[in-house]
Amino acid sequence: MHRLDLTKMPRHVAIIMDGNGRWAKKKLRRRVFGHEEGAISAREIIRSCHKFGIPFLTLYAFSKENWQRPAMEVEAIWHLLKRFLISELPELIEKEVRLIHIGDADGIPPDVAEELRRVTDRTSGFSSLIVNLALNYGGRQEIVRAAAKLAEDAGNGKCLPGDITAESFARYLFTAHAPDPDLLIRTGGEQRVSNFLLWQIAYAEIYVTELYWPEFREPQLIEALLDYQSRERRFGKTGEQI
Ligand code: IPE
Ligand code: IPE
Ligand code: MG
Repeated sequence: MHRLDLTKMPRHVAIIMDGNGRWAKKKLRRRVFGHEEGAISAREIIRSCHKFGIPFLTLYAFSKENWQRPAMEVEAIWHLLKRFLISELPELIEKEVRLIHIGDADGIPPDVAEELRRVTDRTSGFSSLIVNLALNYGGRQEIVRAAAKLAEDAGNGKCLPGDITAESFARYLFTAHAPDPDLLIRTGGEQRVSNFLLWQIAYAEIYVTELYWPEFREPQLIEALLDYQSRERRFGKTGEQI
């Protein structure tokens, strides 16, 4: 922790929590065991972000594409997510952490949706850390949904097509309440974004680690943050202008 520059912390960290299945395979265990261990990483990373004063954390937990996995795994993941929501609520309240769902509410199993509503309602007044939990989420679907809502507002005369800007468009996204991610972390080594926050990562610093998600805990987060702090973010300018 002491090596981190607290004046150069990212405001928003987004994580593609990948590699649970491969981690379990390496341990000669079932994939579900990897998801269980991954839930522990999620809990620890929430704690660490809170401790470091990072105001926004977005966790990619279940994508639109993940429905294509074997039914048994899909069921196990949703069951685990429900248990996670139940088990974490007391600590979220204690730390005044707000949990917000990003993604389609439609399609989430009803018992999980109920728990999700409970946690988001009970934590809605908090802001020490905002955790966006991406469930049944797809970046393209989010952009299309935003465009449809915007078209509806334009049709109703609530906005003029000529007045639409990148900023006003972003207000129709699930992440309207948050700044864009400064740091995008992907565990599991894949160099792709897998339909995650396509609009919002326009200028995110990308950090890919070969470590599997169950292996990613506070020391590994610190490594990622140190790497982030060593980067020069130019936003199109020259190095001399920074
Ligand atoms: C990430 O781990 C968790 C989810 C996508 C739900 P994976 O289950 O994708 O693990 P790998 O990539 O197969 O190792
Ligand atoms: C991305 O991981 C989705 C989540 C972490 C929830 P995947 O394992 O589904 O991504 P791909 O299939 O390797 O692109
Ligand atoms: Mg994967």
